Amino acid sequence: MNTSPIIALDFKHQEAALSFLKPFETGTFVKVGMQLFYKEGPSILYRLKEQGFDVFLDLKLHDIPNTVKSAMTSLAAVGADLVNVHAAGGSLMMEAALEGLDIGTEAGQSRPSIIAVTQLTSTTEAQMQRDQLIQHSLNDSVLHYAKLAQAAKLDGVVCSVLEASSIANVCGQEFLKVTPGIRLANDAAHDQKRIATPAEARQMGSTQIVVGRSITGAVDPVAAYEEIARQWKGLNE
Ligand code: C5P
Repeated sequence: MNTSPIIALDFKHQEAALSFLKPFETGTFVKVGMQLFYKEGPSILYRLKEQGFDVFLDLKLHDIPNTVKSAMTSLAAVGADLVNVHAAGGSLMMEAALEGLDIGTEAGQSRPSIIAVTQLTSTTEAQMQRDQLIQHSLNDSVLHYAKLAQAAKLDGVVCSVLEASSIANVCGQEFLKVTPGIRLANDAAHDQKRIATPAEARQMGSTQIVVGRSITGAVDPVAAYEEIARQWKGLNE
């Protein structure tokens, strides 16, 4: 799996996303989320793949197992390299998601990797305890979901940098720990709560970082991307 920073393409339509990507190299890893996918459908994936980008399709599926299985069968055909579900959907739903992907992957093609969202990086421990009625620490909740995802044979999880090292201890280095909530030292946090810098992400055991507004909102997005990539690879220390 590509380990370059994943750029979150949170744009309103595909023209904006594709024009933003023009100065970026082929092979850059990008993330298509709900905003763009619900507007454009699979055509945005076809366009990005044609242009040589690796794509994380971030739709965070969460429904009954049979529905998620069928949805994943459809998604396997659109060309994403990485897809995801909410671990809160449970073990049976995660197993069904994987089955659906296997069914939908054409012979000779490789199945997209699949990861589970643990607790969103916009969630604090107090919010989790109050809104989800989970009376554990946020770290324990994330770790529990990571273990469930691994038992369901998923490839990894989405978590914050703050939980990546305890997940690595329990689930291993190879298990994907894809971490959003990444900010350069002087950037605004926006709605994210559990944030970290790219260098911290590397030190704490993230396997991939997802960065949106720190790149898409920068005056010079390529320079911001390169600075983030340098820190992520440990070249600035
Ligand atoms: O702009 P920012 O860097 O906060 O964007 C983060 C991206 O990662 C957004 O597209 C958001 O939907 C996504 N994401 C997240 N937290 C998760 C899963 C995905 O922020 N747990």
